[in-house]
Amino acid sequence: MSNSRSQNSRRRFLQDSAAATAALGTLVIPGAVHAGTDEVIKVGLIGSGGRGTGAAIDALHADPQAKLTAIADTFLDRAHDSLSTLKEDDKIGKQVEVSEENIFAGFEGYKKVIDQCDVVILTTPPHFRPLHLAYAIEKGKHCFVEKPIAVDAPGVRSVIETCKVAKQKGLSIVSGLCWRYDSGVRETMRQILEEKAIGDIVAIESSYNTDTLWHRPNQPDWSRMEYQVRNWLYYTWLSGDHINEQAIHSLDKTAWLMGDKSPIRATALGGRQQRTDKKYGHIFDHFTVFYEYDDGKRVYFTCRQQHNCAMHTDERVLGTNGQAEVLRHRLYDAAGKPSWRYKGEKPSMYRVEHEHLFKSIREGNPINDGGYMTNSTMIAIMGRMCAYSGQTLTWDECFNSNVTLGPTEYAWGDIEEPAVAIPGQSAPA
Ligand SMILES: NC(=O)c1ccc[n+]([C@@H]2O[C@H](COP(=O)([O-])OP(=O)(O)OC[C@H]3O[C@@H](n4cnc5c(N)ncnc54)[C@H](O)[C@@H]3O)[C@@H](O)[C@H]2O)c1
Repeated sequence: MSNSRSQNSRRRFLQDSAAATAALGTLVIPGAVHAGTDEVIKVGLIGSGGRGTGAAIDALHADPQAKLTAIADTFLDRAHDSLSTLKEDDKIGKQVEVSEENIFAGFEGYKKVIDQCDVVILTTPPHFRPLHLAYAIEKGKHCFVEKPIAVDAPGVRSVIETCKVAKQKGLSIVSGLCWRYDSGVRETMRQILEEKAIGDIVAIESSYNTDTLWHRPNQPDWSRMEYQVRNWLYYTWLSGDHINEQAIHSLDKTAWLMGDKSPIRATALGGRQQRTDKKYGHIFDHFTVFYEYDDGKRVYFTCRQQHNCAMHTDERVLGTNGQAEVLRHRLYDAAGKPSWRYKGEKPSMYRVEHEHLFKSIREGNPINDGGYMTNSTMIAIMGRMCAYSGQTLTWDECFNSNVTLGPTEYAWGDIEEPAVAIPGQSAPA
């Protein structure tokens, strides 16, 4: 699209399609993912690290008429690395049209990307998600939003409000809680929740017990702010701790099994035993949380990032008439014998979420994943607040918390080194 007339017509298509379809009733064209138009959709990437680069590849695969036209990352080296990977991709490389002036560094680059794109991929550390999402929706853009969507309760409440606005504007918000888009997990959930194949759920044993993750060694020219942002995993203000940043995938499945209700209360243990060096910031390396629901059901949850320990990630669902393993897509009868397993196709869930997003845009049938992505993030934050403080806390205490993590202004230079929380002494955060 080189002239302003064609740009106007493309933008009109993107803005009007939702309204027009709403007026006609929902127009669903089975199998027609790119139905009715070959208009270019301009995609912008904000946070061009590992996941952002992968998400951009998935987006461009999902819609052959989509083009990546702008990138923002706090660090230029990250933006250029990502761009090289994208351009070299055999399949989608030709859809990458990011000119030098559309590569933005620093903390404000997100605005420039959002201003000029139709769809935005938000894949920075989660601290920035509420701010970036609010701006994208204010500017009328469809969004792919990586998990988790915040690191504290005020952030979650902000995203809830933003998602309401997105609904009013007919904008799609697709969440990176990718198991919701996995065919095997979806069918296993259907067996449990709709077919009642294991009876009523009594309790869930959930775990995300895994190995340690990457660390980026300090460099002489880095300020402390740069060190923290580059090593964002290890700072609660940036990641929300690993219960929020990584194990949210498991907590999201427990929430799905519980009908996406919020627990009423939680009690948690946690600490750090292996990852005690200061270079690992101040996050914990293990958590155990008991979540209580208003109907008496319970979720017993553990997550661990420790090396050389048993690794296990799954939800074992205990029912009145059997059990299920969600990630393994298996059911067992009351005697413990295998009774069902998923044998269908398993397309990449990462690709599927983008296919849904672009289909929703082209058909004017917006998706809004705001409900579960905010509830599941808050469940993870609640577990952390209970573990850091050592207190049993109610949902209302956590959800209504006004503790905001991180600086209010972002600038390179010195920044406080947060202390490791001590249960029994630290306030819920
Ligand atoms: N759904 C999944 O399976 C999955 C997998 C991996 C990561 N993630 C999520 O994706 C997000 C990114 O994770 P990652 O593994 O790609 O991390 P990463 O460190 O590889 O990438 C994050 C990028 O964001 C940049 N960044 C930091 N602050 C920024 C800001 N204010 N503006 C612009 N850019 C900024 C960093 O420089 C970095 O390049 C996280 O929320 C993570 O939880 C999801």
